[in-house]
Amino acid sequence: MSEAIQIKPAVRVRGLAVLQGDKSLSHRALIFAALADGISRIENLATSEDVNATIRVLRTLGIEITLAPDGESAQVEGRGGIFDQPSMPLDCGNSATTMSLMAGVLASQPFESILTGDASLSTRPMNYIAEPLRKFGAVVETSENGRPPLKITGGKLTGVLYKPKIASAQIKSAVLLAGLFATGSTIFHESLQTRDHTERLISHLCEKGVIDIDRLEKTITVRKIESPIEPFEIVIPGDPSSAAYPIALATLLPESSLTVPFVGLNAGRIGFFRQLQAMGAHIVMSRDPHSGKATAGEPVGEITVHSARLKNVPIDPDRIPAIIDEIPLLAVVSCHSDRDWEISGAARLREKETDRIKTTAQMLEFMGAEVEETEDGLKGPGGQKFKGGDIPCIFDHRIAMSAAIAGWCSVSPTAINCPECIQISFPKFFDLMQNLVEYQ
Ligand code: S3P
Repeated sequence: MSEAIQIKPAVRVRGLAVLQGDKSLSHRALIFAALADGISRIENLATSEDVNATIRVLRTLGIEITLAPDGESAQVEGRGGIFDQPSMPLDCGNSATTMSLMAGVLASQPFESILTGDASLSTRPMNYIAEPLRKFGAVVETSENGRPPLKITGGKLTGVLYKPKIASAQIKSAVLLAGLFATGSTIFHESLQTRDHTERLISHLCEKGVIDIDRLEKTITVRKIESPIEPFEIVIPGDPSSAAYPIALATLLPESSLTVPFVGLNAGRIGFFRQLQAMGAHIVMSRDPHSGKATAGEPVGEITVHSARLKNVPIDPDRIPAIIDEIPLLAVVSCHSDRDWEISGAARLREKETDRIKTTAQMLEFMGAEVEETEDGLKGPGGQKFKGGDIPCIFDHRIAMSAAIAGWCSVSPTAINCPECIQISFPKFFDLMQNLVEYQ
């Protein structure tokens, strides 16, 4: 375990935040490159532990992946949807995205594979993924209560009509990936729209007619791919979930100003910025009109932010999937708004790397804030000034980074214990923030 990181109260944030590639998109680019027939190239790949898990799993399945020395670009030798039967369990580490998406891919492979994870992933419910894949015809065994490991005996799949019980891009992606290798049509019914990176990649990379998206009926239909996916080149846009941290701090600390270039502006990912705008934040998102070509259809642009006083505005429950990873940070920000606040409709947070409703409340209490857990969210008073605190090891990257933001706007220093968990999504978080944060 590394030493605790000490966070001193800061006065403002200034500068340019250049971010590494988006984590969700990095996983998907690697998987689609492995499915393509030939050599694909990925630029600005995320170098996080979660993305390393996808690389490790694909390599164990016989896919050659050559990384540049900085890990930020990759060459992937796809084999047109053919993989080697793995000789060992496929270790997904902490990454539920790796496990979910790879389960979708492996469901159609004519062999047995076992997907395992670390202590945290091993407690997360994967029956959400197992259930639809069984409907396709794959044999999927789980541990007690649908927990990993997942043992998948894949084979011939038949398309399904599936309506999940919860809104989840991971479930949707597993179903769509299996649907690309299933006979007939697969129809996924999505009551609340989640991030659509998988659909965009299918539209961009697969032959015409493979995917139909009907926003009115809330359905996505995929059909079996008849010709192999062509190899491709993609530049991954900066990660909007990583951008959220410096943007939140620049909003909260007076006289701050920050620019974030080349960041992903997918509507399914910018719920946090939209919510802050509704609360009165000075956040401007300017979409690059030429974006989309290099990024396989993903919108990209620049975000600028200046500090602002925030009023509390209740969050629209339909917006929850677009802000799901930023809710711990939204709770930090909401404590600084002008009145009582409540975030609801976020029960899915209890099934993340930790029970994030509980761990967000714990973290805020350690910071000296007043907060209350509800069944599906959090609530508390506005106008709070954090005292600063000693944050124990919670082993959740988004809680550690939210605690650091809370620490920079506290009156006394904060210690973040076990800060190494940030490697999961944003290894350069503290380096980047130290370049932006100014002290008295
Ligand atoms: C992800 C989807 C989200 C998000 C996770 C990454 C993805 O989970 O929380 O960090 O890349 O598909 P859901 O399955 O809850 O949408």
